[in-house]
Amino acid sequence: MDQFHTRNFCIIAHIDHGKSTLADRMLELTGTVHKRDMQAQLLDSMDLEREKGITIKLQPVRMAWTPGTRRPPEPGDKNVEYRLNLIDTPGHVDFSYEVSRSLAACEGAILVVDASQGIQAQTLANVYLAIEAGLEIIPVLNKIDLPAADPERVATEVASLLGCDPSTILRVSGKTGAGVPELLDSIIELVPAPSGDPAAPLRALVFDSVFDDYRGVILFIRIVDGQLTRHDRVRLIAGRADALAVETGMFAPKQTAVPQLEAGQIGYVVTNLKSIAEARVGDTLTTFVANVQPGSEVIQALAGYKQVKPFVFAGFFPTSNEQYPDLKDALEKLKLNDAALVYEPESSQVLGFGYRVGFLGLLHLDIIRERLEREYGLDMVVTSPSTDYIVRSHDGTERTIRSAADLPDPGQIDEVLEPWISGEVVVPGDYIGGVIQLVNRIRGNQKNLTYVDEKLALIAFEAPLANVLTDFYDSLKSITSGYGSFSYELAAYRSEELVRLDILVGGDMVDALSMIAHKDEAYRAGKQIVEKLKTLIPKQNFEVSLQAAIGGKIIAREDVKAVRKDVIAGLYGGDVTRKNKLLDKQKRGKKRMKRVGKFDIPAEAFMILVSKDS
Ligand code: GTP
Repeated sequence: MDQFHTRNFCIIAHIDHGKSTLADRMLELTGTVHKRDMQAQLLDSMDLEREKGITIKLQPVRMAWTPGTRRPPEPGDKNVEYRLNLIDTPGHVDFSYEVSRSLAACEGAILVVDASQGIQAQTLANVYLAIEAGLEIIPVLNKIDLPAADPERVATEVASLLGCDPSTILRVSGKTGAGVPELLDSIIELVPAPSGDPAAPLRALVFDSVFDDYRGVILFIRIVDGQLTRHDRVRLIAGRADALAVETGMFAPKQTAVPQLEAGQIGYVVTNLKSIAEARVGDTLTTFVANVQPGSEVIQALAGYKQVKPFVFAGFFPTSNEQYPDLKDALEKLKLNDAALVYEPESSQVLGFGYRVGFLGLLHLDIIRERLEREYGLDMVVTSPSTDYIVRSHDGTERTIRSAADLPDPGQIDEVLEPWISGEVVVPGDYIGGVIQLVNRIRGNQKNLTYVDEKLALIAFEAPLANVLTDFYDSLKSITSGYGSFSYELAAYRSEELVRLDILVGGDMVDALSMIAHKDEAYRAGKQIVEKLKTLIPKQNFEVSLQAAIGGKIIAREDVKAVRKDVIAGLYGGDVTRKNKLLDKQKRGKKRMKRVGKFDIPAEAFMILVSKDS
């Protein structure tokens, strides 16, 4: 199929505006997947994705469509058939780098806006990315079947954002399929055909890479120039790795081998690489040239490669030390498919041996944690997530630390720098005051206030990442009655007055509960932690003191009163099964406890998130 009859596009939207559902309808209408094989949200293939209803990994798919026919192409059709390559993208801010890479692999983007919700922060963030990537944007209003849908209002919003005529914006329903054939026709009409040079040397963008247990590292690629034939020797420019193209193929929608991929096409290549760390998303694939050292190729790498850097860290400790090797194996396996996941060994006096694991955000953390528990059967204590910090010594040398335990005493260092974000909140005008107050409460500054249209405001701000991670999102939702939405990116590290806050249980310091906090917030954080701990730590046979300390000085204290806990005491009569059940329950409960000196601390106590907003 020549480039002229190919269209590469992706779908961008705020989370839950219906990308995956719309993609399902397209697959059905183009006959790519038959109705009987249709599983809701086919493109979200991971179990967890289906359960959480979110897209984590993007899955490309190739479809065939003949404009004006409203049905899949059939043999003997005289009309010209087009190939549509769709890349579904994750909507969550943790995975925005993946969105930017899929955009770079396309010429057009369908901007899906929920007609009952309107424009939200992630809609804007994605639109900016798409404009930056030079894509043709086709706006559509989705969910028009919903009684709450207000397509007129939302069309006006979208039109003023993109500077188009509201009446030209397509209205569709991913649920009923209404408007979807017209949308497919529009893609062919409006999205430009790819325009790479088929005769030039190979240049392909790696927009995803996966590790398959049986086949090894598979790269998802967009061929920009040239062609790639099975058994070619290839090179990854940024990864400085050479490999063999063991198999080339397309997504139809399952991986289907073809002997060759040409300029303009989207497909995959199975390689003999050992790890996806050598084949990072955003890298450029080219042909191996003998005698040219990696790094000195004449061919120019495609723009936009950046190494994604985790900035949220948490300690993962198996509840029993015997599971330590299993945790190590499991992390190694997950890393095969997740180049953004990093980890290093960590030890804690209280929790024993574990790993400090780095993530792209809290959702990423949640996903990895659940996968470790479900797929690998691990029982773990996970500590409160924190960011990393830069410690600057008196002589100017800098060091990154990822855990409060690594923060040196104040006398030994000159400065501590913490990461700040720049964020954007999109909210109806009535809520501006509340949002600005919230930003101030998390130690942030409002930078700018603009309007998307007369009702919808865009508040740009900066704030410390650590305070955004905790409950900023929940507070925003409650302050704005659910209308506020938010996106952010890491901006810079700033020197701030940061201190280490320690927690003592029964007079002993519990290292895994230490945290780094701003001087102005540490006092309240310490108070909150001991108050929360008091509700979590079960009464023991003796009184237990809970204390928060900064630099050895106690700043807050609570006591857990003593009680004799006897679960069987309340039972009279001799119902043995009931008695055993209770004892059993108590035993199971114990497993989730961590013994600290003489005390039992429940696993969830290590996950306390301090609220900055009260
Ligand atoms: P992420 O993959 O998490 O970014 O979400 P998404 O944008 O892919 O949204 P998804 O397709 O999972 O849809 C979100 C919810 O909206 C689901 O409950 C869908 O059933 C529902 N939904 C999607 N499209 C429509 C529609 O046209 N009409 C109605 N009534 N519901 C829809």
